Amino acid sequence: MHMRTKKWARPELAACPWCVDEPEKLRGRWAEAFPKKQPFHLELGCGKGVATAAMAADNPQINYLAVDISPDVLGDARRAVVRACGEQPGNILLSRFNIEQLSWFLAPEDRVERVYIRFCNPWPRKRHEKRRLTHPRQLAQLRAVRPVGGEIYFKTDDEPLFRDSLIYFETAGFEPVFVTEDLHASGFAPNYVSEHERKFAAQGIPIKGGIWRKTDAAVERDFTRWTLNGSGDSKSTCAD
Ligand SMILES: C[S@@+](CC[C@H](N)C(=O)[O-])C[C@H]1O[C@@H](n2cnc3c(N)ncnc32)[C@H](O)[C@@H]1O
Repeated sequence: MHMRTKKWARPELAACPWCVDEPEKLRGRWAEAFPKKQPFHLELGCGKGVATAAMAADNPQINYLAVDISPDVLGDARRAVVRACGEQPGNILLSRFNIEQLSWFLAPEDRVERVYIRFCNPWPRKRHEKRRLTHPRQLAQLRAVRPVGGEIYFKTDDEPLFRDSLIYFETAGFEPVFVTEDLHASGFAPNYVSEHERKFAAQGIPIKGGIWRKTDAAVERDFTRWTLNGSGDSKSTCAD
């Protein structure tokens, strides 16, 4: 997705006390960055923050960290949060970092109880599979920073990504709690609709997704080189 550079975004993020400039410094002590000690939820690739802002406004009893790699979309997300929650929201931090290096920024002590992955890049080419946010290589990083029972809320418009992710979650030690191929028809609530979700739903594309919970199964594998043995094939290979 190409976006025009927003000149105002970086200065606004730099001046905002709840936009974290050096996230690596909070590794292992994110709880200290919030005024209240309460459950900690993480959103990966928040984009323009449409769902993020509504979620934070509705749930002051949760501390949120919303992350994106693009300062331009984070600028939009900041403005969306201000519109929904005011200038000093208290229960949400925004930060710019590369999710592929999540373990540089988050530690097991951060105890992420819930992770949101909304409409991540589907990376359709086989050789890019490992870059998917639900690939076991990424899920292994998420596993490390969350307690047993910690959940991942994932949704997508992309059928192959969804199908493959069912295998990824199982492989990485997450069990399904709720899975649907048509979220909007499922009655699931509350469903915080993101910018991309609105766009795809308007095109009549069913939104697929669900909730997966970290099990206490021992999953001590290095998934760095792990790939699916053909898209949608339930057999998997580990090249290690
Ligand atoms: C397709 S958009 C979805 C945005 C939003 N979640 C939604 O549903 O509307 C994917 C977002 O993930 C961000 N992103 C992609 N790769 C990333 C990475 N490695 N680290 C952090 N953010 C990333 C992009 O900048 C983009 O804003």
